[in-house]
Amino acid sequence: MRFVKFSFVLLILLALFVPALAQEDEKDDRGAGLTIGFSQIGSESAWRTSFTEAVIAEAAERGINLLFSDAQQSQENQIAAIRAWLAQGDVDAIILAPVIESGWDDVLQEAADMGVPVIIVDRNVNADESLYVTRVSSDFVHEGRLAAAWLAQETSGNCNIVELYGTVGSAAAEDRHKGFMDVINLFGNMKIIQSQTGNFVRTEGKQVMASILSSVDPSTICAVFAHNDDMAIGAIEAIKEAGLAPAKDILIVSVDAIPDIFDAMDAGETNATVELSPFMGGPAFDAVVAYLNGEQLPKWIPVGGGLYTSRADYDADR
Ligand code: AHR
Repeated sequence: MRFVKFSFVLLILLALFVPALAQEDEKDDRGAGLTIGFSQIGSESAWRTSFTEAVIAEAAERGINLLFSDAQQSQENQIAAIRAWLAQGDVDAIILAPVIESGWDDVLQEAADMGVPVIIVDRNVNADESLYVTRVSSDFVHEGRLAAAWLAQETSGNCNIVELYGTVGSAAAEDRHKGFMDVINLFGNMKIIQSQTGNFVRTEGKQVMASILSSVDPSTICAVFAHNDDMAIGAIEAIKEAGLAPAKDILIVSVDAIPDIFDAMDAGETNATVELSPFMGGPAFDAVVAYLNGEQLPKWIPVGGGLYTSRADYDADR
């Protein structure tokens, strides 16, 4: 009789706990319950702010516990945040948007040694690919080529160009420049006559453009290629303050496709923008879940974007 009672109790316990234990083994396929550190570059541009907001919203929607760090464009701050998460020992993965390409080997190795997977997002790192799981980002070289191709067509291959450079050493700036040069080098009468960094910041874009307009005969400037829309908007203000008509006296092409650039387009003050999607959080979180479930991932998960010369065209593609 005692054996029967014991078996009955055992059956009840098994019925209660086996399903729970089974559930623990299955990782939620969207990441619910995971703790993920997100090292963000800063808030230097409207696009970066949209990117941050999109990642935070995606984590909340998935039930992911997101640890967020805004590095204020400092690599030192990014590395410190990652080391703090590793020391706490409570992150399941780290997502890194690297401000510049170099200087990541040591901290990525430390994460690898502790078995914490790292997903690179937005920009790129010059590091051994084995030190990160994958990279979710656009093709910055392609973005530069798109901008140059539009300008070549718009000017029949004849244009003196002012380049507003992004953060020197960042993949976004270096590769957009590379792609832009790939195309303009095909045209003997297209050349960059001035190139200065505005660090992707609106006010710096205005300052640099104002300085160039006061040192170069504005009538010799055919166009501005700004590595992001914020610097283009700053340049528009400087061009207007110099008594010139942006998008007419001086053509303007940039990257990001932020709402403000379409306002400028509606006002006839800029010509073209290349889209950069801020929605990289979803693919990054999916990559974390896939990795933790033992799946193999490609080293690059691309996000795309086209070139737009009107809000209507952009909206039509949503
Ligand atoms: O890395 C992407 C670039 O960084 C965006 O084009 C720019 O707006 C941001 O500062």
